[in-house]
Amino acid sequence: MHRSRVTVVALLIALAVVALGSPSHADPPQGKGPDPALRADQAVFHFLLEHHKDIQRTVKKLDNGVETLTESDQPEVAKKIQEHVAAMHQRVKDGKGLRFWDELFVAIFKNHAKIAMTVEKTEKGVRVKETSDDPFTVKLIQAHAEVVSRFVKYGFDEARKVHAVPAADPETKSRFISPVIKGYGPVVPMPDTEELPKKGTKVVFDVAAVNKDPAKPLPGLERAAVLLNLAGVAGLKPGDIEVTVILHSDATSAALDDDAYRTLTGKDHPHAELMERLKEAGVKFLVCGQSLERKKLDVKKVRAEVKVAASAVSAVINLQARGFAFVPAH
Ligand code: HEM
Repeated sequence: MHRSRVTVVALLIALAVVALGSPSHADPPQGKGPDPALRADQAVFHFLLEHHKDIQRTVKKLDNGVETLTESDQPEVAKKIQEHVAAMHQRVKDGKGLRFWDELFVAIFKNHAKIAMTVEKTEKGVRVKETSDDPFTVKLIQAHAEVVSRFVKYGFDEARKVHAVPAADPETKSRFISPVIKGYGPVVPMPDTEELPKKGTKVVFDVAAVNKDPAKPLPGLERAAVLLNLAGVAGLKPGDIEVTVILHSDATSAALDDDAYRTLTGKDHPHAELMERLKEAGVKFLVCGQSLERKKLDVKKVRAEVKVAASAVSAVINLQARGFAFVPAH
């Protein structure tokens, strides 16, 4: 398959999984047919998330891991907690992962051989001790225990979110991730902060500035990628936020197709990949017709994903009148 088509398919699947988010959709993106064990595990997560308010949990951090107590006064919920942990214990032993779109879970299963887990049934649930001799795996275990506590506190709202891998060493391991626009606009998940992206938001990025190094992505496109990655981290689907980019002024040439751009500059189009990824995430592109004319660029050479607007100023005014927030990148 053509590489860009593979990327499109992979991205669409990943986005659908992030979008649907619930653990009943936490299957491996390229699963080979139904996996009955996974289906059974999903039914249990589902149940636990539905009954999250009936669960109490305490986590004690140890130097080499965690000790947790997770219980419920409801006998049926207590039984499901025990069932879930037994199944997850087996998955950790076998290295049989799940939630492949959530990088913390991917990291846990990658390091499964370094995790020692003991599970003790209590009258109302389980007491679990998870430890490791490897300092990074200890961080993973502790981060995972915090995520489980968040599942208990917030239920499905948390299960939709992507969880970052803790920094192995703050100097070398970045906490920045790009879950929606791969490779661009990285963000650090900050779930407990104010003003997270909201469903229903409409934004127009007014993109006029170019980088000093013209080979680097346009700052306004990076900013759009940041917003979509923040939205993904917060558990939103790309379609939950409507994004339009208007290219004008110095950024006008980004609207050209690959051949026209090469003819104009002698270089490969530096923003083509980012524009493709943004388009896959539903971003709409406009270019200012007036800027095209002023710069003597051929309107027929505008790339397929970009529509020509009468002007940037009229586009911005119309979009703002339709409720789009204005974000300048001048
Ligand atoms: C309210 C919902 C949930 C509860 C009460 C719960 C409870 C637990 C408990 C008690 C453990 C043992 C480790 C610990 O205590 O930190 C655990 C481990 C695990 N859970 Fe859950 N869980 C819930 C939801 C989920 C969901 C939605 C998933 C994934 C889709 C999941 C996947 C796992 C995995 C993979 C492990 C083993 C990895 C490890 O312990 O390092 N859990 N869960």
